[in-house]
Amino acid sequence: MCGIVGYIGYRDAYPIVLKGLKRLEYRGYDSAGIALIDDTKLNVYKKQGKVAALEEFCYGKDVKGHIGIGHTRWATHGEPNDRNAHPHLSNSGKLAIIHNGIIENYAKLKQDLVSKGYVFHSDTDTEVLINFIEDIYTNNAGSTLEEALRIALKRVVGAYCILIVHEDEPEVIYAARKGSPLVIGIGKGEHFLASDATPIIEYTREVVYVNDYEIAIVKPDELILKNLGNERQTPYITKLDMQLGAIEKEGYAHFMLKEIFEQPATIFDCLRGRLDMKDVSITLSGIAAYEQQILAANRIIILACGTSWHAGLVAEYIIEETCRIPVEVEYASEFRYRNPIVKNGDIIIAISQSGETADTIVAIDQAKKNGAIILGVVNAVGSSIARISDAGVYTHSGPEIGVASTKAFTGQLAVLVLAALKLGVDNKTITQERFSYLCYELAAVPDKIKKILEDAPAIKKIAEKYANCQDVLFLGRGYNFPIALEGALKLKEISYIHAEGYPAAEMKHGPIALVDEKLLSVFIATKDPYYEKVISNMQEIKARKGMVLAIVSEGDKYSSNIADDVIIVPETDELIAPLLNVVPLQLLAYYIGVEKGYDVDKPRNLAKSVTVE
Ligand code: M6R
Repeated sequence: MCGIVGYIGYRDAYPIVLKGLKRLEYRGYDSAGIALIDDTKLNVYKKQGKVAALEEFCYGKDVKGHIGIGHTRWATHGEPNDRNAHPHLSNSGKLAIIHNGIIENYAKLKQDLVSKGYVFHSDTDTEVLINFIEDIYTNNAGSTLEEALRIALKRVVGAYCILIVHEDEPEVIYAARKGSPLVIGIGKGEHFLASDATPIIEYTREVVYVNDYEIAIVKPDELILKNLGNERQTPYITKLDMQLGAIEKEGYAHFMLKEIFEQPATIFDCLRGRLDMKDVSITLSGIAAYEQQILAANRIIILACGTSWHAGLVAEYIIEETCRIPVEVEYASEFRYRNPIVKNGDIIIAISQSGETADTIVAIDQAKKNGAIILGVVNAVGSSIARISDAGVYTHSGPEIGVASTKAFTGQLAVLVLAALKLGVDNKTITQERFSYLCYELAAVPDKIKKILEDAPAIKKIAEKYANCQDVLFLGRGYNFPIALEGALKLKEISYIHAEGYPAAEMKHGPIALVDEKLLSVFIATKDPYYEKVISNMQEIKARKGMVLAIVSEGDKYSSNIADDVIIVPETDELIAPLLNVVPLQLLAYYIGVEKGYDVDKPRNLAKSVTVE
C-alpha cells in the first residue's frame, strides 16, 4: 500500500527520500513521486511505474534541497498514471501533499471547491484535500497553514497519513495521521518521516510513533506534536530494535526466499524466553494478567485477514482442543460491517503481521468500544494494532519484506500454540503429560524446518514440473485444512495460478468435477488421525486421472505409491504439524513464481500492508 517518506535537515533530501522509497517498495505500489524545496522553489517529479522510473525521470533535473517528501502510490481513486501519482499540488502551486489512506467525503468537498473555481488535475481524493486546506488557509485572514490543517482535518472523514510542504516555509514539514501509520526518526539537526521504520533505521534508532488525530510540525531541530484541539503532546521516543540486515536480501535472490529460510531462526526467537524446556513450562507475560478472564470466557473471537486469518483458523482447532473454549474466526472485513454481538469482557484475538491492516483495526476498535478485551498477536512492534490491544504477544519474526507472508505466519502459529498450551495446562483441559510432549515437539520445530529446507532443490524441481498448471487444488483435513487454504493463497499471490484450498473430504461435494489430467491436487497427507481418509481422497483423484503431489511424513508407505510426486516432512504431533507442513508449500509457490519469471517479492496488484478498506 502507499508508502510515505520525508526528510528535513542539513543533508540533501533527494537521495535520502529516494532510498527511502526503495525501502518501501515491498509495500506494493504503481507510481512514485517526490517534492523538494530548493531554497524558495518547490519542484515536484512523479512517474507511473517503479521508483527506478522516477529516478531516471529525475536524472539531470533540479533535485537540490534539504527538505523533501516522497510517495509510492497504490491506486485507489483514479488509475495508476503520472497524473494521479503523488505529490499533488494545490491550485496556487505552493503546497504539495503526499497521502496514504482514503478521504471518504472527498466528492462533497470537491463539489464545493469546484463551485469556488478550483481546478483539478487528477482523479484523486488527495488533490481535493490539499485544495481544501489551501482554501481554508487563504480565506481566513491571518491563519497559519498549521491552523488551516487542523480545521481541515476536523472536517475530513476517512483515513490518512499526510505530509505537506509549503514553498514559502522551506524549514518545516507538516504531518498528520489518522488510521494510517507514521513514524518520525529523530536525528541531530534532522528528522526522517516514513510509513514504517525501514527507511529510517540506517540513520537513527530513536523514533516517535505519531498517534491518530495528531499533527506533527517537523523542523530540522524541533519536533512539535499537537492534537487536533491544538494542545501540545509529549513525543514518546522509543528505540528501534531492528538490524539493517533484516531489511536487506543478504545474498538471497528474493526477500521471500530469505524469509522462508529464516524460519528456523524466527521460530527459535519466538519461543526463546517463553518455552522453557528445563522445567517444561511456558511463560507468556504479555497476556498473563488476562489469563483468568480468557479461561472464564464463554467464547473467543479471532479477527484477522488473509494469511493471518489462516493462522486464526489453525488457532481455532488448537484452542478448542486444548482449552475446550469455543472459538469463532472471522474475517475482520466482514465482522466490522455485520453488527456482530460483542459483549463486555468478550475476548478478541487480533492477528496481524503488519499491525496496520485497516479492516482489522476498525473491527477491534468497534469491539473494544463494546467492552471486549483485545489481545494482539502482532509482528510489527509499535504498530497500530499492537497499541490498540489491551495485551498481546509479539511474534518476533523480524521485518517481513516479501509481500507474501511466510515467516510471520509461522511466527503467529508458534505464538498461538504457546498460548493454547499454556492456557490448556493451567485450565487442566490437557494432561501434564500431553502438555510436556507438545512442548517437546514445539521446541523441535526449528530443527525440523531446517531439515525441510535442505530439500529445497528437490522442491524446486517439482515446482518446475508443475509451473504450467492452470488450476491447482490444495486439500487437507483437520489442522491441515487451514494449511491447504494457505498453500492455495501463496500460490495465487506469487504465481497468478488459480488455486483453491478445500477440506479434503469436501472435494467430493463439488470440486471433484474439476478433476482431469490437467488439474494438480496438492494433498497435505502427513500422519494424523485422518491419514487413511486423506489417502482415499487421493485415490479418488487418481482414479479420475488427476495429478497428485503429496506432502507426507517421513516413513510414509502408502501415499508415495499413489501420488505422482511427494515432499517428505519430519513427523510430529498433528497439533504442531501446520508449522512444518506450510514450509514446502511456501517453497512450492516461490519456485513456481520464479520459474514463471514473476516478481515474487512484489506480486502485481498486491500490497504488503493493506491500510485502506
Ligand atoms: O498485516 P496483516 O497480517 O494484517 O495482513 C493481512 C493480509 O493482508 C495478509 O496476510 C495478506 O493476505 C498477505 N498478502 C498474505 O501473503
